[in-house]
Amino acid sequence: MNNVIDFIHVHRDRYVDELTQYLAIPSISALPAHAADVRRCAEWTRDEMTRIGLQQARLEETPGHPIVYAEWMGAPGAPTILFYGHYDVQPVDPVALWTSPPFEATVRDGEIYARGAADDKGQVFMHFKAVEAHLKQNGRLPVNMKFLIEGEEEVGSANLDHYIQAHREQLAADVVVISDSPMFDRGIPSICYGLRGLAYFQIDLRGTRSDLHSGSFGGAVANPAMVLPQILAAAKDRSGRVRIDGFYDDVLELRPEERAEFARLPFNEKKYRQDLGAPKLFGETGYTTLERVWGRPTFEVNGLLSGFTGEGAKTVIPAVAMAKVSMRLVPNQDPEKIATLFAEWLDKTAPKTVEVTLTKMHGGKPWMTDFDNPYVQAAGRAIRAGFGQTPVYNREGGSIPVVSTFQQELGVPCVLFGVGLPDENAHAPDEKLDLGNFHGGIVASACLYSEIAAVRG
Ligand code: BES
Ligand code: ZN
Repeated sequence: MNNVIDFIHVHRDRYVDELTQYLAIPSISALPAHAADVRRCAEWTRDEMTRIGLQQARLEETPGHPIVYAEWMGAPGAPTILFYGHYDVQPVDPVALWTSPPFEATVRDGEIYARGAADDKGQVFMHFKAVEAHLKQNGRLPVNMKFLIEGEEEVGSANLDHYIQAHREQLAADVVVISDSPMFDRGIPSICYGLRGLAYFQIDLRGTRSDLHSGSFGGAVANPAMVLPQILAAAKDRSGRVRIDGFYDDVLELRPEERAEFARLPFNEKKYRQDLGAPKLFGETGYTTLERVWGRPTFEVNGLLSGFTGEGAKTVIPAVAMAKVSMRLVPNQDPEKIATLFAEWLDKTAPKTVEVTLTKMHGGKPWMTDFDNPYVQAAGRAIRAGFGQTPVYNREGGSIPVVSTFQQELGVPCVLFGVGLPDENAHAPDEKLDLGNFHGGIVASACLYSEIAAVRG
């Protein structure tokens, strides 16, 4: 193992140069104009996998963006790791708010800034380099490995579930490893044992056939730009509780021991608030901030559009209004059931003065695991090797829908070991990855494979 770690230390600078190339490809899965870039990024991923010594590296076509698969199966009798990550990224707007261009990775104060630096190309790349170090130094890995890197995570993984169901045998493994989450805080590595689920919708209201003169018609018809916010505001009360009937029916309450664990974590609420630039925090009464984000469901408006928003003034009653809304879910809420409850609630809540169309966009189930499984313990030892510190256990508020699919379809436990940071600016301008964490993450990943090999051997 030491020769592998030495190799990683020696190649530190090269890794940053190579990652810069990976980050230069604008693989924005949500924007059709970038479809060719997404494919080019899939090809780059495949070629890199071949370069580092993985076998069978190939694109798997889907009706959407390609999945990239590769494997190394030269350790008969040893456990098999299925590594999952994504090579697609979020859009970059508002691009004017980036300090340096989003696809020209730039290092400032020990952090590499670019779209995808943390979410998730940087963290995927860290595993590529860990594999490379083992294969270049020893000609073998201590475990068998399968890599499944998708290009549609940021748009809901519509084609991945189907691929997994159709390739159960090809993907059979003992454990799934994912690095697509932040660590608890700078200097406090963590293992994530829970993620929230998601149910995402678009709501369209129409009041009249076309926009109207607000003098001639104002007062005679309902205004969708006013009705929509009224509906949205009714979805959550002033104590932060979601008012959709039945919304909390399946919510698994936080256990008292879990709440005590959260309370023991070094969380500085004042600093959190100041970093966010929020005058005051807001959330469900009766829960702490960490409990709200990790262990409680929420309803949020993600975007709103209606009427005249240009320069100057225009006297108009808009014909339509649109909102994107989503709910973050916790165990044991089910996105399908929540979608039904939400449709019923909307039907009941919206006035008859407007036509309402509800469109379901995507969803994912919440996930939680037991952290005394031997693979999670192995990850704890690997993190200690890479970061010189024992990790804490945390939950996260974000979603990785495929995690529950792995658990259900393949029946294998997932280990989530991420090296991002809470201030990594994922999905926002100036996304970044700390290079110390990147490097520690390569060492920890390389150790993780050996630790997992030892679980069985
Ligand atoms: N890396 C995130 C998931 C994540 C975020 C995990 C924060 C832990 C903490 C992932 O790439 C992501 O953004 N997922 C989407 C899923 C959605 C598009 C279905 C999310 O959470 O919004
Ligand atoms: Zn993301």
